[in-house]
Amino acid sequence: MNFKEELQKKTEEVQKTILRYLPKEEGFASNLAAAMNYSMKAGGKRLRPILMKETYAMFGGTGEVIEPFMVGMEMIHTHSLIHDDLPALDNDEYRRGKKTTHVVFGEAMGILSGDALLNYAYEVLFHAFDLSADNERVVLALQILAAKTGIYGMLGGQSVDVENDGKPLSLSMLEYIYKNKTSALIEASMMVGAILAGADDGSIRTMEQIGYLVGIAFQIQDDILDVTSTSEELGKPVGSDEKNHKTTYVTLVGLDAALQEVERLSREALSLLDGLEEKNPFLYQLVEELVHRRK
Ligand code: IPE
Ligand code: IPE
Ligand code: MG
Ligand code: MG
Ligand code: MG
Repeated sequence: MNFKEELQKKTEEVQKTILRYLPKEEGFASNLAAAMNYSMKAGGKRLRPILMKETYAMFGGTGEVIEPFMVGMEMIHTHSLIHDDLPALDNDEYRRGKKTTHVVFGEAMGILSGDALLNYAYEVLFHAFDLSADNERVVLALQILAAKTGIYGMLGGQSVDVENDGKPLSLSMLEYIYKNKTSALIEASMMVGAILAGADDGSIRTMEQIGYLVGIAFQIQDDILDVTSTSEELGKPVGSDEKNHKTTYVTLVGLDAALQEVERLSREALSLLDGLEEKNPFLYQLVEELVHRRK
């Protein structure tokens, strides 16, 4: 199997796992469940659960305890996308190749289904205690995941991002935004994989650093694609950043320098991966290929 086929197979496996954990569309709140499932089923690359599982495997993890964490992470990520697209934030109408949740279900249901997915993530995550004998590791993984999601992570980054629409930003403020809105969940994914597999503290910190580098590169690439791609290829609008008068890495340093920075960050991440005793050639190649991603 070549890399592309292997990635597709792993993406389909994650997809199947996610489907097993979705809420049932029944009862008086069935519309809320439908709105949650609409965005969860719409697709997406499933990058964070894949990074989590591959890190888990790299450190020798084989148990089922990783599953609720993979699903919980994708629910938290999807909640961030539903809310990111709301009229009060980026006001975008397409996501994952479909109309956004608030367009299909209305703004109130867009807000509530995002909230409900964030909460449901933890309802799913607590199942990990039934699947692991090592409660201490599960607690540590939950603490990291919660912290990287909240004010000292993704939500902190999103707030500074959105309140600075239309304003010039320094490079250090932009770095704060990218580290938090995007790297934080990628760091958490890789750290959780390492923690649950029993990796030592040094390796967990290294995975955090790799997640940081991959995340910044991923967000700069997202900004690049916002000006160089098409909405058909991306499954979401292009030109969203310009519409919202956002300062991005591309507007700050230009397209060429942005492309070079993605390569530099990726090389740095790869050399850290290379320095680890544990190996996972698929994970290595995945990080390598992210530089050239077109969606
Ligand atoms: C989009 O994330 C938001 C960013 C952090 C740039 P993804 O590009 O991973 O979105 P999906 O999950 O594939 O839809
Ligand atoms: C959002 O960044 C990152 C999130 C935490 C959702 P963007 O606003 O650039 O993400 P897209 O381009 O809408 O996916
Ligand atoms: Mg945004
Ligand atoms: Mg957006
Ligand atoms: Mg973007």
